[in-house]
Amino acid sequence: MKKHSVVIAGGGSTFTPEILLMLLSEEERFPLSELKLYDNDSERQAIVGNACAIIMKERAPHIKFSFTTDPKEAFTGVDFVMAHIRVGKYEMRSLDEKIPLKYGCVGQETCGAGGMAYGMRSIGGVLELIDFMEKYSPDAWMLNYSNPAAIVAEACRRLKPNSKVLNICDMPVGIEDYMAVICGLKSRKEMQVRYFGLNHFGWWTSIREKSTGKDLMPILKEHVSKHGYLHPNLDASHMDEDWRSTYEKAKDTWAISPDFMPNTYFKYYLFPDYVVSHSDIKYTRTDMVRDGREKRVFGECRRITKDGTAKDSIFEVGGHATYIVDLACAISNNTNERMLLIVPNNGSIINFDPTAMVEIPCIVGSEGPEPLVMGEIPRFNKGLMEQQVAVEKLVVDAWIEGSYLKMWQALSMSKTIPSVEVAKKILDELIEANKSFWPKLK
Ligand code: NAD
Ligand code: LMR
Repeated sequence: MKKHSVVIAGGGSTFTPEILLMLLSEEERFPLSELKLYDNDSERQAIVGNACAIIMKERAPHIKFSFTTDPKEAFTGVDFVMAHIRVGKYEMRSLDEKIPLKYGCVGQETCGAGGMAYGMRSIGGVLELIDFMEKYSPDAWMLNYSNPAAIVAEACRRLKPNSKVLNICDMPVGIEDYMAVICGLKSRKEMQVRYFGLNHFGWWTSIREKSTGKDLMPILKEHVSKHGYLHPNLDASHMDEDWRSTYEKAKDTWAISPDFMPNTYFKYYLFPDYVVSHSDIKYTRTDMVRDGREKRVFGECRRITKDGTAKDSIFEVGGHATYIVDLACAISNNTNERMLLIVPNNGSIINFDPTAMVEIPCIVGSEGPEPLVMGEIPRFNKGLMEQQVAVEKLVVDAWIEGSYLKMWQALSMSKTIPSVEVAKKILDELIEANKSFWPKLK
């Protein structure tokens, strides 16, 4: 089988060590000849890179490993770019959360004003990675899961229409893992789903057991109407209180569109008042992640480097991230696997904007994704999606045109912001905070 050369962009991410372990655990179907880490922050890259070098030496000496901040070195001779960058890092994510909250609005990584601010930072970073890839490895594919995926994907559609970039999200995968537990199945791969929506903004319309065709929606509806996606058999050790409440809230989200199963992030759009009243502006999600995952991962990286061994490492295989290998294998081995990707609508959702980037099932093979037709969608879901897709498109307009007005319209359009006046106040403060990241808006 062909051995692949892979670069992980955003190599200093807290997710990198467990993704690396996941890649090693999948070597049978996705063999590697070389693995490189790339980041534009040499300090973060060194923390993670030094530890990963030890892991690789001990567990996979046959794979060439390196880490670098030099794009030419990173992007030369690769088959796949796995991209998970966070432009502005946690410092800026913290402001994305806290600035909207100051005005009584949802402050979140990808939803609402915070997501738009993050989008304005991410577009340039992701486009730069595409340029590096196309310059140094023109035949490579980029598998992008940098957020906010909806806005990044729309920017790719507009500005890099012919690039080999696939935008994918782990959220539906994670929820499907939980659905499988609720239905008593061993794996989400035993299910076949139909789904429509935008990224972080969609619904399952059908979930069946693959081998028998059995309809699993009645079991799921019964369960989710009472408990959301929580279940006693779920491994709660990986779920902090914040995520627990998000999974539980799916119960209320389900009730307003009960024919379908909802994505959990509707919480932010359908219950913004609830979200704000349960937020603490002094301690938002960023603070939780920094005190939790970042401390744990960086602490462990430093320990491995100091001890010179990863033998007793607490790092585990990032199991749920195997969807990234599924995608790489689909392209490399032409597996024609059915996966949810963020792709141009082009008529898949018949009564929805053909130019929208939608999240829908696709058959993925060597030529990329072939989207499946999801048909007509009901007025309620369509109405919500139309408002949200306008927000996402206006943000990309604002980035391309350097337009203050478009960005103000985007914020004003969001379901998470109550008025044009509040939108302006949030925008002006976001502009000030993002001076070194956003294009200048006029
Ligand atoms: P992180 O801050 O720990 O790591 C991101 C890394 O990207 C940092 O080391 C940073 O220096 C680097 N970076 C920033 N700008 C860069 C650039 N222009 N070029 C190269 N490197 C750059 O963040 P994290 O929490 O690990 O998240 C990383 C990304 O992955 C985020 O966008 C996050 O939202 C996303 N994510 C996506 C999914 C998904 O499935 N869609 C799941 C989890 C996280
Ligand atoms: C978040 O904070 O929501 C993401 O970075 C994912 C996570 O698990 O922390």
